[in-house]
Amino acid sequence: MPQIFINEQNCTRCGICVSLCPYRIVVLPDGGLPCHVQGASERCIACGHCEAACPSGAIVVNDARLVPMPYASGVAEIEPARLGAYLRMRRSIRRYREEPVERTTIEQLMDIVRFAPTGRNRQDVHWFIIQDTRELRRLTEMAIDWMRESSAAGSSLAARFNVQGMVRAWEEGRDPLCQHAPHLVIACAREDNPVAGTNAVIALAHLDIIAPAFGLGACWGGIFIFAVQGCEPLRAALGLPPEHVPIHCMMLGYPAIHYQRAPKRNPSDIVWR
Ligand SMILES: Cc1cc2nc3c(=O)[nH]c(=O)nc-3n(C[C@H](O)[C@H](O)[C@H](O)COP(=O)(O)O)c2cc1C
Repeated sequence: MPQIFINEQNCTRCGICVSLCPYRIVVLPDGGLPCHVQGASERCIACGHCEAACPSGAIVVNDARLVPMPYASGVAEIEPARLGAYLRMRRSIRRYREEPVERTTIEQLMDIVRFAPTGRNRQDVHWFIIQDTRELRRLTEMAIDWMRESSAAGSSLAARFNVQGMVRAWEEGRDPLCQHAPHLVIACAREDNPVAGTNAVIALAHLDIIAPAFGLGACWGGIFIFAVQGCEPLRAALGLPPEHVPIHCMMLGYPAIHYQRAPKRNPSDIVWR
């Protein structure tokens, strides 16, 4: 159960920790120090906002699952124009170099992705990373076989996707599912948590955004995940634990193409009230 510890000398009793607690369980008793409401520690989600915002660094949140923060503190600011340009130039990468990505680089990405928001700070995304490119091709082939069989059996799949075209592309040496990406990152969620799927998608969106900063490219694998969800042998070959639901996935690798400009987009569809 999370607990908060206060450094009495440093605490100025400013009350910022009290104002930021999402569950209102941090209080500042008259003449006392900030503390959890009696018996409420189990409701603490260890979001760490009280510790992160304390101007005098007087609070520490501790919980068995939390790992020490190895990064320098301080505010990271990026000019809006720079960040906007970066986000506009992010692309779904569909051509990759054959070169694999070092595991340490993928670990660096995932180390940033773990700071993505999760409902009730559950941090409950389970990752499954196919680093071995040959294994990814084997699994993709299983997905293609499933598509071929589903199409032959007249399933609704063929109407939804151009299945025959994709199967043909694979037979001609192209990879319409994973675009010859060397790696695939699959985000899974526990089925007993209704917001876990949302958490998984948000985390993957972080991965999509951070990848170019490492010179990498990513692309959502909508068709691949569709196959994982529908093809039991493929799911079994992945070896996912039964309680882990595959939510979505992302191809990862070094891009073979450098985009010169951002593509056109529709205007935002907004209702103002
Ligand atoms: C949920 C989702 C699933 C997607 N699935 C695929 C896919 O299976 N294959 C693919 O090449 N692109 C896939 N994409 C990428 C979209 O086609 C892409 O985001 C869109 O064309 C806009 O291009 P951009 O991301 O470069 O701006 C997917 C994107 C999302 C958000």
